[in-house]
Amino acid sequence: FPIVVLISGSGSNLQALIDQSLQGVLNVTISAVISNKADAYGLERAKEAGIPTHVLNHKSYGSREEFDTALQSTIDRYHPKLVVLAGFMRILTEDFTRHYEGRMLNIHPSLLPKFKGLNTHQRVIDAKETEHGVSVHFVSAELDAGAVVVQARTPVEPSDNAKTLAERVHKLEHIIYPLAVKWFSEERLTHQDKYAFLDGQKL
Ligand code: GRF
Repeated sequence: FPIVVLISGSGSNLQALIDQSLQGVLNVTISAVISNKADAYGLERAKEAGIPTHVLNHKSYGSREEFDTALQSTIDRYHPKLVVLAGFMRILTEDFTRHYEGRMLNIHPSLLPKFKGLNTHQRVIDAKETEHGVSVHFVSAELDAGAVVVQARTPVEPSDNAKTLAERVHKLEHIIYPLAVKWFSEERLTHQDKYAFLDGQKL
């Protein structure tokens, strides 16, 4: 089951996918890893695993549309059945999201629909939330607003800061993202009319 993973940074979620496919838990082939940052550590992880990598620096393109067009043609060279955004820090054009509708997932470190956007861990603390977490969702044109597939939650303790929360949430990410990808690869997870379904049940 061919997938392409897009990253901008450390790639610990990519690593979780690599590890689970090596262990045979996840029946996917990561056909390529694409980064918009040349220094993303995730590129090293991909090379270590023998996965082809590409760097497309968004700063080398005249517009968001041009970048997304180049990105799309790089992705589609691999004919992936699923595109996995794993810490890919770019806002995507509507055309791009429409092209991959129902076959592109993202992971966002909050209990969506709460705390869309950046710096979620600090914002959760500032808002004195008692609970935090992470969401895997299908990607739609609107940022962090597609159908939620699965969430994991953790209590916010008085002693927590953005770093301790981020660490805990990351551990949860590495559990739920491979799980969502597994469901999709088994054709149990689908997307229709802006909703996500697992085994035919609306999520
Ligand atoms: C994660 O916190 C993810 O939720 C967010 O970007 C971060 C990526 O981490 N979208 P990593 O590069 O997978 O380690």
